[in-house]
Amino acid sequence: MESAMPANSKLINQKIKFGKLLGLKGAVSSEVLYAAKGNAEYLHNLMISKNKPEFMHYLLKNPVQTNINPTEQEIVNFVEELERKLFHQEQKQSYERRYGIFFELDPKKDSRAEPCKSWAPIKTPDFREVYLDHNATTPVRPEVASVLLNYYSGKYGFGNPSSNTVQGSYAAALVSEARQRIANCLAASPREIIFTGSGSEANNLAIKGIAFKDLDKKGHLITSKVEHPSVLRVMEYLETIGFSVTYLATDKYGQVLPNSVKQAIRKDTLLVSLMAANNEIGTINPLREIGQICRERNILFMVDGIQAFGKIPLNPKEMGISLLSFSGHKIYAPKGIGGLYVEKGISLIPQVHGGGQESGIHSGTENVGSILALGKAAELAHGEMEKERVRFLELRSFFLDGLKEIEPCFILYGSLENRIPNNLSIGFPAVDSGALLRSLNRIGISVSAGSACSSKKFKNSYVLEAIGADTEKYATIRFGFGLQTKEEDVAYLLKYLKQILNLIKETK
Ligand SMILES: Cc1ncc(COP(=O)(O)O)c(C=O)c1O
Repeated sequence: MESAMPANSKLINQKIKFGKLLGLKGAVSSEVLYAAKGNAEYLHNLMISKNKPEFMHYLLKNPVQTNINPTEQEIVNFVEELERKLFHQEQKQSYERRYGIFFELDPKKDSRAEPCKSWAPIKTPDFREVYLDHNATTPVRPEVASVLLNYYSGKYGFGNPSSNTVQGSYAAALVSEARQRIANCLAASPREIIFTGSGSEANNLAIKGIAFKDLDKKGHLITSKVEHPSVLRVMEYLETIGFSVTYLATDKYGQVLPNSVKQAIRKDTLLVSLMAANNEIGTINPLREIGQICRERNILFMVDGIQAFGKIPLNPKEMGISLLSFSGHKIYAPKGIGGLYVEKGISLIPQVHGGGQESGIHSGTENVGSILALGKAAELAHGEMEKERVRFLELRSFFLDGLKEIEPCFILYGSLENRIPNNLSIGFPAVDSGALLRSLNRIGISVSAGSACSSKKFKNSYVLEAIGADTEKYATIRFGFGLQTKEEDVAYLLKYLKQILNLIKETK
């Protein structure tokens, strides 16, 4: 359908747009635009004359003669295509500038270089940056950035929330507003939310906070083999000071079976600590069932909710959860802010002593800006949860359907049903994980690897080993979709994945 815009104004717009693409302040003449459309050499000269004003001036004054008579639509298409090409070129150049050094390092001379097998030398004329590592971290989203900007550029709120000043009480009010927002996401009371400096800190506080109440008896704790290091290392530390810990095995999907928790419980069990969703393979644990087992036996249930918070509904009270951690940088808030839900009536031994902030459990002047950002990000994530879940499942199906055609022998780790919707962990047969990771990274696709590469530069993931994955035969890549991921991004990934796999496949 033709737009209602008068024909002339459409053409003027293209002349202005074309001028902008050349770095000019105004529009070019129709003759220049037509000449560029009709004569590739003239267009090329115009593009390379961007930093040579005299040459450009000459070209603009002397457009080559063409006898083409393009339609308006052809002109629009021409300018849009040029705009797209330049955008990709610019993105690619800036990407290479930022990452170039990393790729250019010589493995023989520099230990930071990746000495894995070489990457696939493919060309990507439609280059785009596709960030698919959202389980590692997320960028701060614009709505959250604007909360931060308002806070840091505003006149009020910089005060110390513990100070008896107007500025201080204003800051305290902002913090309690954010606390309420987080509490709403967990159907909790704001008094049950404690802010910490990261998700790892929240996990440490929860586990040590309970264990240290039992320092004379040194009881027993239960966890699983696939927990995040911020849980596993704490458990190992507690073992060194006399506690005993059971590390439960999971099923082949990475799920902890409620029955195994039941069987591991002892008379002196203090705490069961399990993750809501796994950071590598996305598997969701049966929290409700495990929570019920813990409630029936009067044992505290701590949940590392860091990958699940904002992605699946979490209602600690209904699920029998007493402690639940979350982290800002997994939900588009800044890094270095996290928190812990602590059920009313449960006391923890503080891990940071000081001025008694955060109900005395976590001292230190509050990181007000990041707390506000976390509150906003949590509220947004919870409001959009269902919509995003549906969108992620569509993206996931689109990717898996495409993958079946490219590499029918791939393995999907974890189950499709019990999984956070934005994650896929895929095993690719007969390729080196370093070569695959590097090939994808080079063309702008950020993902992470879970299996070792031939050089042993990175090790096999203990999570994959725990679920019995064949890390010798399969290179594992984690794909984590995010708010900005579009079908075009996945199509780009599929298009080049096919070429990469063909080039790096090891035929034995
Ligand atoms: C499951 C899980 N737990 C804990 C953490 C640690 O959180 P933070 O990076 O905020 O310390 C992460 C982060 O990767 C995680 O994925």
